[in-house]
Amino acid sequence: MCGIVGYAGPKASAPSSRPVDVALQGLARLEYRGYDSAGVAVIDDDAVRVTKRAGKLANLREALAKSSGSTETTGRVAIAHTRWATHGGPTDTNAHPHLGGHDHELAVVHNGIIENFATLRADLEADGFRFASETDSEAAAHLVAREMTQTGDLTEAMRRAAASLEGAFTLLAVHRDAPDTVVAARRNSPLVVGLGDGENFLGSDVAAFVDSTKEALEIGQDQVVTVTADDVRIIGFDGAEVTDAARYTIEWDAAAAQKGGYPSFMAKEIHEQAGAVADTLLGRLENGSLKLDEMDIDPSVLRSVDKIVVVACGTAANAGAVAKYAIEHWCRIPTEVELAHEFRYRDPVVTEKTLVVAISQSGETMDTLMAVRHAREQGAKVIALCNTRGSTIPRESDAALYLHVGPEIAVASTKAYLGQIAACYLLGLFLAQVRGNLYPDEIAALMSDLEQIPDQIQQVLDSSSQVERLAQDMKDATSVLFLGRHVGYPTAMEGALKLKEIAYIHAEGFAAGELKHGPIALVEEGQPVFVIVPSPNGRHSLHSKVVSNIQEVRARGARTLVIAEEGDDAVVPYADEVIRVPATRTLFAALLTVIPLQIFSCELATAKGLDVDQPRNLAKSVTVE
Ligand code: AGP
Repeated sequence: MCGIVGYAGPKASAPSSRPVDVALQGLARLEYRGYDSAGVAVIDDDAVRVTKRAGKLANLREALAKSSGSTETTGRVAIAHTRWATHGGPTDTNAHPHLGGHDHELAVVHNGIIENFATLRADLEADGFRFASETDSEAAAHLVAREMTQTGDLTEAMRRAAASLEGAFTLLAVHRDAPDTVVAARRNSPLVVGLGDGENFLGSDVAAFVDSTKEALEIGQDQVVTVTADDVRIIGFDGAEVTDAARYTIEWDAAAAQKGGYPSFMAKEIHEQAGAVADTLLGRLENGSLKLDEMDIDPSVLRSVDKIVVVACGTAANAGAVAKYAIEHWCRIPTEVELAHEFRYRDPVVTEKTLVVAISQSGETMDTLMAVRHAREQGAKVIALCNTRGSTIPRESDAALYLHVGPEIAVASTKAYLGQIAACYLLGLFLAQVRGNLYPDEIAALMSDLEQIPDQIQQVLDSSSQVERLAQDMKDATSVLFLGRHVGYPTAMEGALKLKEIAYIHAEGFAAGELKHGPIALVEEGQPVFVIVPSPNGRHSLHSKVVSNIQEVRARGARTLVIAEEGDDAVVPYADEVIRVPATRTLFAALLTVIPLQIFSCELATAKGLDVDQPRNLAKSVTVE
């Protein structure tokens, strides 16, 4: 989830606001998106000038201050970018903008994933284009440049190039032969136009320009927009003019815009989960087989594995607990899930046939890092499942599988949790493919169901009002219990963790089967108990056992809040509330049933007036042991 800014001006009344300054102001407003590099391109004296640096925005400012001392970078257009690395590490070279053309006559910034970039790159290299980076974005830059050479029109060049790309992308381009113009294209990735007076803007979201104008224009799927200081024109990838673009006035200020209008980053990130899981799954299945290309580990090593140990902390450990059910079911490999800080000190049995899977959103959790180091000292292979390119844990692992959920700002992890589960499923299916535990058609069927999940996540998000009302109603609760079986058990643990860490309420998650072994003593009149119910279409005994557990707590006065599949009527007689989720495989339900629990904790903490994004005593990344 990169940040993109485009500008065409400057308005005659403010010639002092150079395009490069406007672009930097926009990047600063996108800083909340997190990033590992940033850059800007301007057209000056008929040349494309690109300045880009790894690290924070300050590094870019420093580089510009040095360079603009020599050349008064004025020009009339600018494009700029903050990068959240997906392909290629966070380096100056991989930072955007990327130059295109044999003579570097064009610059491009890109947000998204171009799935067919390997084929494009081979074709462009055959045409003599030289690549400086390992990114998919540079292929787009050369492609637009090549089309510009043939058409002489930047809009037409972008249209032809964009129409040949597969995947998700927002592209912005400037060319030395069109010094007044910025051209952009989008497919499955956000782009919005800001309409100014004698100047116009482009952004991946309105935060990029809301300080300058509140008049915006939505750019639709498969459209190309051409922007100058005084004009905005839109066409489809088919070349037809678009005249019905939705124009609207932005109601937010800059701070609200960074949260997309949500009251907190956590609320925003909860509602980004459909796209986040879709992006993590994007491009992983090619011609019926899984390809996890950034996970560079010898298949023979994976075939020799006789035990898997998942090491992680907190929410990441709960994701690992879900993974255990899937990996053992598909791959028949004994899979342990260990809290990283316990693993390291219990003298674990680890050999060169042990595969350690380290799950970490930040890639910097010291407990998990130390567990990785310990495992490698014992001869194990380590695969990191991580959301942050260039972070320490993947760097110290044998291989990495990256989430593509974009930066997660809120301390309480939500979209990264779903991304971690999705990545674990991909890893499990990949292992089953490499080791021959599943046939290709079985894997294809599982991937097909998995690819339905983002839409199903959106359905759950779209019906959140019931849970929001429940949270308001329960904001004075002092204790909440969470029950589940199978993948519902780690879901119960995750629901309890969310409530603890942001609403400061005592909450406990446990396996529903454990009730009669002690915890049921906690149940008294009015005790709220969430129960995550497995699909009635899965293993019937599992479903009926959980329904019995609901009866047991209800009989002792509990207020039963039941999360169950649409159409599951067996739970109704024993539920004070039934929260519905779409039907899916028992294993995949973990990606749906947790969402009402995330929303519940977020809404309840908000109702209590607590700082949802920065809860007391907690840090986003625990970099101490
Ligand atoms: C989750 O809501 C918490 N913020 C915390 O448990 C977190 O999951 C844990 O600290 C692990 O962080 P990591 O994924 O960055 O390693």
